[in-house]
Amino acid sequence: MTGRKSFFDIIKWKLIGSAILGVVLWFASGALEFPTVFRIMFVLYAVLGFLVFVLLDLPPMPELSGGKAIGGLLIFYLLCSAVYTGAGVYLPQFDPEWEKGKIQKIIEAKKRAHPSITPQELNQQTQALTAKTDELMERLAKLEETMTGKSSAGEGPSAEELAKKKAAMAAGGIPSDPIAYGKEVYELYECYNCHKIGGKGSVKKRGPMLDNIGNLATVEQIKKKVYDPKFLMADGFEKEYNKGLMPKNYTELISDGELEALAAYLASLKNTSVNTPKPVLKQ
Ligand code: HEC
Repeated sequence: MTGRKSFFDIIKWKLIGSAILGVVLWFASGALEFPTVFRIMFVLYAVLGFLVFVLLDLPPMPELSGGKAIGGLLIFYLLCSAVYTGAGVYLPQFDPEWEKGKIQKIIEAKKRAHPSITPQELNQQTQALTAKTDELMERLAKLEETMTGKSSAGEGPSAEELAKKKAAMAAGGIPSDPIAYGKEVYELYECYNCHKIGGKGSVKKRGPMLDNIGNLATVEQIKKKVYDPKFLMADGFEKEYNKGLMPKNYTELISDGELEALAAYLASLKNTSVNTPKPVLKQ
């Protein structure tokens, strides 16, 4: 017991230590890129630490008892309440509306930069575009029909393709053998889209295989069938016949010479192992 220390003695080292700590905290938090509010708070902690240590070293208060003790407690309680409440009132508070406002501002700026559309508007636009596309496709189909003279449901080369192919054929020299020429005509008009010969071609459109047609129809009948599909019906193909699947516009497309060769070629097909349906004369 060396007697009572002076107040200066009590705080001297604590003040120096806390000051150094405060400065270190300030610059260290700065180097770590803490926001200024946080840096101030760190320094305030150092100050708080200083106060606590000073408080610990202060001479004890005179002991209170009885009513004084209760009064002291009450005063302490009221003091603390006042400090906390006052701080609560004066310090900035978290306000959800304010935060929402800030977010709204960011969103609005973005919206102005990219005017967005609602899903309903998008839907409307899509529908309008689809309608336009459909209309265009329809017009295209009609155009093709007028150009080739056939319904788009039919199978065959377009007028353009046909012209090109014919030119190529002429350049290659028309075969003098009518059957070889007829075979080329068959290819040229893409009869294979609905018929099969020698296993080649497609019967997806439900046309008969023609491998044995030479045993069943004459050249004249074949010629008539090509120019007028209603002239005869392949037996068992009633539905396809009634639907008019075989194109009707060959009169305009196939020249007499071509038809002659085509019929000669088909009439030469006499493969009895293939089940070519019997022609049923209709007219
Ligand atoms: C779009 C499909 C289609 C195309 C293309 C087509 N045909 Fe046909 N053809 C048919 C259908 C379906 C039948 C069976 C119904 C009928 O007799 O009309 C048929 C029947 C025939 C028959 C009668 C066969 C039999 O067994 O009685 C001959 C011959 C024929 N076609 C020749 C041709 C030739 C030649 C061409 C090419 C210039 C051609 N067809 C192009 C669909 C087509």
